[in-house]
Amino acid sequence: MTTPHTPKIPYGGDYNPEQWPRHVHDDDHRLFTRARIDTLTVGVFSWSLTQPGPDVYDFTTLDRIMDRAADEGRRVCLATGTAALPPWLAKRHPEVNRTDFEGRRHRHGQRHNFCPSSPAYRDHATAMAARLAERYAHHPALLAWHINNEYGGACYCELCAEAFRAWLRDKYGTLDALNDAWWTAFWSHRYSDFAEIEPPSALTEHWRGPDHTAFQGITLDYFRFTTDALLGCFLAEKEVIRAHDPDTPVTTNFMGMFRPLDYHRWSPHLDFASWDSYPPLDAPPTWSALAHDLMRGLKDGAPFWLMEQTPSTTACRDVNPLRRPGELRLATFQALAHGADAALYFQLRASRGACEKYHGAVIGHAGRDDTRVFREVAELGGELESLGDATLGARTPARTALLFDWDSWWALEISDGPSRLVKYQEVVHAYYRAAREAGADVDVVPVTADLTAYDVILAPVLHMVKGDLARRLEAVAARGGTVVTTFLSGRVDEHDRAFLADVPGPLAPLMGVRVDEWDSRPRDVVQPVHLGEETYEARLVFEIVLPRGAEPVGTYGDDFYAGTPAVTRNRFGDSGGEGWYIATALDQPGVDKVVRTVLARHDLLGPHADQPAVETATRVAPDGTRLLFLLNHAPRPARLTARTAATDLLTGKRVEAGEPLTLDPLGAAVLRLQ
Ligand code: GLA
Ligand code: ZN
Repeated sequence: MTTPHTPKIPYGGDYNPEQWPRHVHDDDHRLFTRARIDTLTVGVFSWSLTQPGPDVYDFTTLDRIMDRAADEGRRVCLATGTAALPPWLAKRHPEVNRTDFEGRRHRHGQRHNFCPSSPAYRDHATAMAARLAERYAHHPALLAWHINNEYGGACYCELCAEAFRAWLRDKYGTLDALNDAWWTAFWSHRYSDFAEIEPPSALTEHWRGPDHTAFQGITLDYFRFTTDALLGCFLAEKEVIRAHDPDTPVTTNFMGMFRPLDYHRWSPHLDFASWDSYPPLDAPPTWSALAHDLMRGLKDGAPFWLMEQTPSTTACRDVNPLRRPGELRLATFQALAHGADAALYFQLRASRGACEKYHGAVIGHAGRDDTRVFREVAELGGELESLGDATLGARTPARTALLFDWDSWWALEISDGPSRLVKYQEVVHAYYRAAREAGADVDVVPVTADLTAYDVILAPVLHMVKGDLARRLEAVAARGGTVVTTFLSGRVDEHDRAFLADVPGPLAPLMGVRVDEWDSRPRDVVQPVHLGEETYEARLVFEIVLPRGAEPVGTYGDDFYAGTPAVTRNRFGDSGGEGWYIATALDQPGVDKVVRTVLARHDLLGPHADQPAVETATRVAPDGTRLLFLLNHAPRPARLTARTAATDLLTGKRVEAGEPLTLDPLGAAVLRLQ
């Protein structure tokens, strides 16, 4: 199953009419029509309304919302609403409330804080999902199921401790295997009974918070357990929905690069991926692009839904800047360029009270349609309508893959040594950014992905190497491809035990290097790295590399290892393949230099690689039509030369090869190539 079948890009978002008297609904629909809004995400937080007491269900309001949507010709992404506990449930079954990392049992409040192991939660949530599915499976407005909301966070209660022990029994079989995996001879941790095992928290293995643990193996397994426990909640709801509705696609909204949950463990169970994009303040455009590509990678490159973005501003940050004129449009076309088949907002109408009343919305408190935000939303709605189905179902023909691995992310960031300053996302983003700004389409894939379609594999900070990955990377190079990896890669096995071998462990033969030592320094220590004619800056970690077959491409400029290799290239196999090892955290220009050199070898530099502010992305529609998205992230016009004849689907204008092509500041074009 893939994204729901629609004649055009679904456009709309989170809609909470249950917060409003009925006359407001009339205004809503009038305004939705003006803004070309055709899709409503309904019921995300309506549990206490639809089930006001243990044995009382009341669907009057939801019926009205659904029927009204159908009458108006709109479709509904219907949420099961199980992400915020109704007060009566929290009171009646206190164990549905989470116990936090410090061991405090919470009481009713906020949301996204149910215990995933509580049978009372599970029973009530699935009962709700089942009733909704039974009632609305054949409703004409129903387009998709939206289970829960933004799953995340961990619980440390006794029920979770028991569930963790059962999960461990299942994983390891015997205590011997577990003791070996966790290396429990260290600090007298040998377990003689599963009952002795405690969740790793502030009361047990941790100090200074969730990243400081005495036993990485235990903490890693708790991350994996938490991922699976929440997945279990999702699957339980999905199962009861399926019992009543075999056909409607089911999703849950993810959060892109969200560390607590390994979304790759979820992906087989989603009919389609969807996610909520709230990029960090001042993040470069490649940050959201990376998250989009990660989400597209969940379902082997199939399109996903952009389930939420703000039309203007967030509310939860200390400062909440506006999206400037044009930024919403550009971000939306960027999502489409990376594989989104829907463009939805949080939220359609601003809530009147509580903590999100100042969150941006299509319709503000005054209910006007002549605000800047409403105008931009409506204009964008018109443009998306004009695209029809041209982009739906299109795929990305990438020949570059970036490996993204939650296990490596976790292992790296909970490690004592070499450096707490190395952040997984930052290093991964630097390599992704280099490839994207050079115009390469990039698939962001799990380490288990089939790599045979790719010429270039970027595997930054691949701290943990599992299974047959090293062999599959060697196979890429053996058929002439290039594999790039970095410092702090190839360090530990799946249990976070160091490899009893030269660093980078199983990657050493492909890289042709041996790393003997590593120097970790504060952020202000800068090491010059000479690469060709240029000198770049490196920081944080400087690995000392002995070439074992590889040739130095760049060298350190300072300290006792001055003149030794910082960047190496190893020829591998007989087909011209290479393994590149980057032994330090190069600055962005240095990463750009390396990645562009590698991409150029495979003729993968994009048509406008000389203009890094112009993002390009290719999608191939199901009928084979090639679409080239051009996105100008700069606040000034971009002047390009068309490489092939094309028609801009947004303006209808045609350009011939060699003709000038100008993009407005923050402008976008969707070129149909021929
Ligand atoms: C998340 C949630 C929404 C809302 C928005 C606000 O994405 O899913 O319910 O809280 O954040 O930005
Ligand atoms: Zn719990």
